[in-house]
Amino acid sequence: MTAYPYGDAITAGIDDLAHFTDGGRLTRLYLTPPHRQAAERVMAWMREAGMSARVDAAGSVVGRYEGATPGAPALLLGSHIDTVRDAGRFDGNLGVLLALAVVQKLNRDKRRLPFAVEVLAFGDEEGVRFPSTLGGSRAIAGRFDPAILDEKDTAGITRRRALEDFGCDPSRIAAEARRPEKVLGYVEAHIEQGPVLEAENLPVAVVTAINGASRGMVTISGEAGHAGTVPMGLRRDALAAAAEMIVAIERRAQYEPDLVATVGRLILQSPATNTIAGQATFSIDLRAPSNEARLAALADIKSEIGKIAKKRGVAATADFTYDAPAARCDAALSDALGAAISRLGLPVRRLPSGAGHDGMALSGAFPIAMLFVRCKGGISHNPAEYASPQDIDLAARALIDFVENFQPRPS
Ligand code: HGY
Ligand code: MN
Ligand code: MN
Repeated sequence: MTAYPYGDAITAGIDDLAHFTDGGRLTRLYLTPPHRQAAERVMAWMREAGMSARVDAAGSVVGRYEGATPGAPALLLGSHIDTVRDAGRFDGNLGVLLALAVVQKLNRDKRRLPFAVEVLAFGDEEGVRFPSTLGGSRAIAGRFDPAILDEKDTAGITRRRALEDFGCDPSRIAAEARRPEKVLGYVEAHIEQGPVLEAENLPVAVVTAINGASRGMVTISGEAGHAGTVPMGLRRDALAAAAEMIVAIERRAQYEPDLVATVGRLILQSPATNTIAGQATFSIDLRAPSNEARLAALADIKSEIGKIAKKRGVAATADFTYDAPAARCDAALSDALGAAISRLGLPVRRLPSGAGHDGMALSGAFPIAMLFVRCKGGISHNPAEYASPQDIDLAARALIDFVENFQPRPS
């Protein structure tokens, strides 16, 4: 008998899901074959736990465990099963398996609660394949923008076509929206993806808010030229302009303690050692707890890009396709989560999330709360990402206790 029955079982599930990848290091992008394989495995686990299970019109897996009265309002649990490239195994997947552990226990105990429990495994949280993200959770919240169906991935495949190839009917996405009176709240467990819990030697914590985020692409058009013949003063070097802009973006983010800006992608149209770059494109990911601080920084960054472009005689366009306001977690739901942690005899630490989550798309439509799980070194979006079976076991016990003691607000 293991000391961490939930932790060991969930770790085995994590390792199982990690087999569904595009290539050696874990990469599972939205609406790809590995996403389909992982979705099928999650649905099999759901059905074994007495749940109905389906893939909804936006590609999310939806499992439902009825309460004592069929059709009762539901408490939504879950996270995402898509990953970044060369990902860690725990980001997203852990939250889905922790949610499944709750229903597996209810099913083992043959227990029906006064409400239904649904487990959602979203597939578009990372937003790696298409420019915008959170398409699955936006659909559930009734906030899906049909315009994004025309977005293309780097292979030129539209989100619409990818959904159809996945077996989804995009015309039914609007119908996936949940009526607020049928949802009691959304609670997601997720690794912290930061260093605080490890530094304070805490296994779990309650999230207070999810930082807001803006994402965009900047394209710079200069003039390609021969590296050996064009004098420095006559160049309109798109890559050098990008470099100066990227350092300016970093400098602006350093002004404020909670503001972060990242340029994670740089694409050159025709890279060559002996060619002055004629076109360069880079991504910007900008986040802050305060929407005001983020939007002020965004305005400053756009203005700085314009100044640098003018000085260097290049053209620059900034296309921001994604803007997610900061999402506050619901106080009552978070307090109930904290009470479950207290019943485990653990301190209740509360902290904001620098990372984005599907709760951003659901917040405002439904009450949301999040449970953080310590991860080694705060490392994430990296194959070295790790959460221990001991901490996962504690997180499972806290989530189970929370659900089993959950008292829906009087409607
Ligand atoms: O980008 C994020 O914060 C999340 O991992 N999608
Ligand atoms: Mn995540
Ligand atoms: Mn992530």
